[in-house]
Amino acid sequence: MDVYEAVTTRRAVRGFTDEEVPRDVLERVLSAAAWAPSGSNIQPWRIFVVTGEPLAQLKKRAVERVATGQPWDEREFEMYPRELKSPYAERRSAFGKERYSALGIAREDWEARQRAAIANWDCFGAPAALFCYIDRDLGRPQWADLGMYLQTVMLLLRAEGLHSCPQMAWSQVRETVSDIVCPPEGLMLFCGMSIGYEDPAVNYIRTGRAPLTENVTFIED
Ligand SMILES: Cc1cc2nc3c(=O)[nH]c(=O)nc-3n(C[C@H](O)[C@H](O)[C@H](O)COP(=O)(O)O)c2cc1C
Repeated sequence: MDVYEAVTTRRAVRGFTDEEVPRDVLERVLSAAAWAPSGSNIQPWRIFVVTGEPLAQLKKRAVERVATGQPWDEREFEMYPRELKSPYAERRSAFGKERYSALGIAREDWEARQRAAIANWDCFGAPAALFCYIDRDLGRPQWADLGMYLQTVMLLLRAEGLHSCPQMAWSQVRETVSDIVCPPEGLMLFCGMSIGYEDPAVNYIRTGRAPLTENVTFIED
């Protein structure tokens, strides 16, 4: 698989089979992903890979917590600005519409949307997950490094025939994640990522992208 194919076939998959992901494949992907760039090569990502019984426990606790309406953990960062301005607000709302219509859920059916959202904490059925932490003392440029690293992981997973779904949703139950992964003091959770083989029976609509001219400007003579 070449890089273009890895980029264009990567998408947030929200339905996985229970086929296990071999440990050596995960090690190969994460060893190669370590070549992602970072400012001054400080490599600020701290990754915890969870599979097997610990993941089953984590899913169970998180799903129970959310299903019984327990409050979210206190936020360590805002996922989005409170007032999302144009064009981001429109793009976010278009994504919500696409996502729920793919599942056959009406926008106003809050309960069905809630049920669909709960699948986040079951890792959409995936048998493996990683959790990406960063040192609380690091700043915005290092958060950007995390993004480059995580995309590198997701593209390498494609090369192995695997799919993924990055999930900030895990930050809402970060203390439950901490109970399982026991991160050292001083780290904060950015996101989780479900990893596995795609379940082809799960419906999805491919998200679109803004045309090149909306986000890219060439300055030339
Ligand atoms: C940092 C980050 C956090 C995300 N968090 C979630 C999440 O919690 N749950 C989810 O279902 N998708 C999540 N996504 C997936 C996005 O919704 C998805 O990438 C976006 O809609 C574009 O679709 P595509 O990845 O299928 O191309 C996240 C993506 C990123 C990059």
